[in-house]
Parts: sequence; C-alpha cells; structure tokens
Amino acid sequence: MAENPSSRNTESNTYIIDTENAAEMARLLDQERLFTEAMGGPFSERDKEEMANIHDILDIACGPGGWVLDVARTYPHIQVTGADISPSMIHYAQAQAEAQQLPNAHFRVMSAMEPFTFPDNSFDIVNARAIVGFMPRSYWPTFLQECKRILRPEGIIRLTEGEMGFGTTPAFETLVSKGIEAIFRVGQSFSSTGRHLGITPVLSRLIREAGFEHVQAQAYAIDHSYGTKAYRGFTEDYKMMFSLGRNFYLKTQILTPEEFDQLYAQVLEELASPDFSAIAYLLNSWGEKPREA
Ligand SMILES: C[S@@+](CC[C@H](N)C(=O)[O-])C[C@H]1O[C@@H](n2cnc3c(N)ncnc32)[C@H](O)[C@@H]1O
Repeated sequence: MAENPSSRNTESNTYIIDTENAAEMARLLDQERLFTEAMGGPFSERDKEEMANIHDILDIACGPGGWVLDVARTYPHIQVTGADISPSMIHYAQAQAEAQQLPNAHFRVMSAMEPFTFPDNSFDIVNARAIVGFMPRSYWPTFLQECKRILRPEGIIRLTEGEMGFGTTPAFETLVSKGIEAIFRVGQSFSSTGRHLGITPVLSRLIREAGFEHVQAQAYAIDHSYGTKAYRGFTEDYKMMFSLGRNFYLKTQILTPEEFDQLYAQVLEELASPDFSAIAYLLNSWGEKPREA
C-alpha cells in the first residue's frame, strides 16, 4: 500500500464528514452495499464479454473498498485499484483483500484533488461514485482531465452520483434541505439556489466537456419507504449520516446546535413511522476517451 503523506486528514480535506471516524467507515460499508445492490451489481451496464477486454480499473474515493472487492471477486482477470484520502479506510480495505484472498485488489492512499501519481494511459476504466461530498464544483474539470490522462485511448470514465432524501415528513425534509444548502455554501453544489445538489443534471455534460465521446447514462430510483426492502438500510444510513454530519451543519452555521438537535430527535421519530416515504436517485454516466486524445 503506497501512502501519499500530503493526503492525510487535514485542512485540505473537504469531505463533509471526518474521514478517520470509524463510525463513518461503518456507515460507508453499508452504504456502498446499498448502492451496488440498487445498481444491479458493480457493472450492470456491461456484460461479461465486454469485461473480457478490461484489464486495469481504478476506483477513486473507494471508501472501505466494497466496490473494488466486488469487482476483484467477480472478474479475477482484472487488476483493480482503490484510492481514497483516508488511511484508515485504505488499511481496512487492504486487510479485506488479503483475508478474502483477492490478490488482484490493490489500495492506496491518495487525494482526488491533487495530480494523480499514475502514469499516462494506465487504466481501461476509471470509476468514481459519490464524490460530490468532497469535490468542489470548480475542481470537477481538472479532476476529469486527470482521469482522462491516466485512461488509455478508448478507456472509460464512469461516474455515479445521486440525490438522496426526497421524503415527505417535516423534520426529515428540513434536515436534508439544510444539509444540501450547507453543501451549496461550501461550493460543492451545481445548483444556483442551493435547493438540490445539482450534480446529476450536469454529470453527462461534464464528461462530454472534458472531451469524452459516446457519453451514456443510466438512472436508478430507490424507494426506501417504510415496508420496502431498502427501508432499513437507508434509514440506518440517514441516522448515521445526520449524526456524523452534525459538525458540518454547525460549522457552516446553517443550523444552531439547538435547532439541529431538535430536528434530529424529530427525524428519528419520523424514520420509525409507518408513514415514512422516501426515494433516492442515482445516475451512472460514462464516456469514452477518444482514440486520438
Ligand atoms: C460517500 S464516500 C463514497 C465511497 C465509495 N465511492 C462508494 O461509492 O461507496 C466518499 C469517500 O470519499 C473519500 N474522500 C474524501 N475526500 C477525498 C479526496 N480529496 N480524495 C479522495 N477521496 C476522498 C472519503 O474518505 C470517502 O471514503
């Protein structure tokens, strides 16, 4: 495991939750499973034959490595590398790869907001999912150029972003919208009003503007209302996400501690109610690096 010392959890870490908090890692372990399941597996848009020509994949901001391990297990001929700013998540992921005897899974500590240490033309696919929580709006074009540089000609950039928390109960709606407004305040939203994250409407355009071709997208809607299969997983995720995000709400002064605590207590009641209704959307968008780039 290689480590880039400049990518430790410092002032330059723009993620909305402390990346070294063990509870955040536990949350991401569940969340990555929820997302991959909702998307029908790690590569539902590609059949086995298409994957036969793929040899090297990079997953940026891999968290505790669930997606990388899924790919390594499903496609033993592929070398798959996960990179994340969090040393503890990378340690965990590496230990899992060893325990699960997946020698084709590799991990390294790396920031997605610095030039990558990989040479040009290193990968057939560069994947990144749910990075809006740390990526400033202004850095997306640079990030995509770096992805393009390390992709081989005809290599694929594959991004997945979502909007969570479309619900109908008052405290839940308020806490979600205040969180989105706080993300807007720190410059990580594409919305012009802060009403939503705004990343999914622009995702394909960003990929196209970075010079990729044949851009395609697939959307997923995940109903996690009371009584659905996804209900328990998503509601546990919300509880953790709000609680771990408390500092972010306070730091951005979007809520006072008293306002947050009162809303959070009410959210717990709403999540447990049989009336709880909510939906999340994910958009998977991908494009190809031109043969002559
Ligand atoms: C919402 S999680 C997404 C994890 C995983 N991609 C998934 O789909 O489940 C965001 C991840 O970004 C990582 N992260 C935060 N800032 C980063 C940065 N500057 N460079 C790379 N990773 C970063 C966090 O440690 C966290 O694991």
